[in-house]
Amino acid sequence: MKKSWNALLVTALAAPQEAAALNNSVGLKPHMGWSSWNVAQCNAASARYALATADKFISLGLKDLGYEYINIDDCWSTKSRDGAGRLVPDPAKWPNGIKPVADKIHSMGLKFGLYGCAGEKTCAGYPGSQGHESGDAAQLAGWGVDFWKYDNCYTPCNQNPRPQTCNSPAGNTRTWYAPMRDAILGVQATRKLHFNLCNWGRDQVWTWGAQYGHSWRMSVDNWGDWASVERIGSAAAGISQYSGPGGFNDLDMLYLGSSKINANQGRLHFGLWAITKSPLVLGLDLEKISAETLAVVRNKGIIDINQDSLGKAATTFRPPGAAAPVGGKIYPYWAGPLSDGVVIGLCAGTSAGTYAVNFKDVPGLGGTRSYSWKEMYTGQTGTGTSVSFNIALHDMRVIKVTTA
Ligand code: GLA
Repeated sequence: MKKSWNALLVTALAAPQEAAALNNSVGLKPHMGWSSWNVAQCNAASARYALATADKFISLGLKDLGYEYINIDDCWSTKSRDGAGRLVPDPAKWPNGIKPVADKIHSMGLKFGLYGCAGEKTCAGYPGSQGHESGDAAQLAGWGVDFWKYDNCYTPCNQNPRPQTCNSPAGNTRTWYAPMRDAILGVQATRKLHFNLCNWGRDQVWTWGAQYGHSWRMSVDNWGDWASVERIGSAAAGISQYSGPGGFNDLDMLYLGSSKINANQGRLHFGLWAITKSPLVLGLDLEKISAETLAVVRNKGIIDINQDSLGKAATTFRPPGAAAPVGGKIYPYWAGPLSDGVVIGLCAGTSAGTYAVNFKDVPGLGGTRSYSWKEMYTGQTGTGTSVSFNIALHDMRVIKVTTA
């Protein structure tokens, strides 16, 4: 039987069973927050961005909705370690170091994350953690870091010299992650970190990720265009069974509101990431976010579905008469269990039209009874044995059907 990260934590802490796992561990729901990378890559890896974003979490009401982690991605350190082998925050970006920023963010009721890499260097060429895992974990714990994204550049593979990106297949990538996992377990008594594996879905990470971390990137990057939403969203359907409390498929940062994606595509992007229980991490500059995008990412009904305590990811289902899924395209019909019902996602991924389902055909519903439902983007509600929506191209409807 697969040993979960939470089980490992319990073992490591030798703490009393169930309650200890719940009280002591993180990642029991998909994490919600913000990451600097899509905002301005290396230029956004600064105290200024972290603190400005924390302020926006409060003023825009995002914190109240569950957005919690302020995560700084690649390029926050200097290009070399100090004489003692420690990572050094770039003084131009962190004039007072990391700790005062983490402290300030904690004082606002939020959490703070950083980025590192399992190889010799990060993807952007900053120091990686290979061979420095326990020292780096101790540094993170000392600074009060809550979240550690761990990338897979300049990792060992059968290529010489070591490339930035190993060819696929790259062999057993678990060995890249085990030393840092163990180092993080080693500092659990002082700091509980969320460990986010970023290996771009290599080596079927979803089959082993829960033994190594709390979430794992299941694809290469979301490049902010519709093709990325199609590529990543369609791939999520086949791996839904691996997501659950303590270990979630990470579909990558949310990129809606960019010039490469329209409003319909943004709603599908957010809705599909939410129902497949991906972490909801805004890759947006909150100083510039539009009212339209804000309305999507603040949709409480959809956030509540993402954060449902059951933590079960939706996947596709095929109603009678519907065409079979096509690889790489977003299938229209999705459903997943909730603690008090079922979520149905209807996606006009390939054509606009009328999308209807009879509840008797939906996994988790069935029978001939009538159900109450609510559609979360339009606010429409109803009671009956089916739903039907006219959906514009690339838009989505997210319907919660209550069974309680
Ligand atoms: C990789 C990751 C991205 C980002 C960059 C930073 O490409 O997949 O999410 O962290 O590295 O260099």
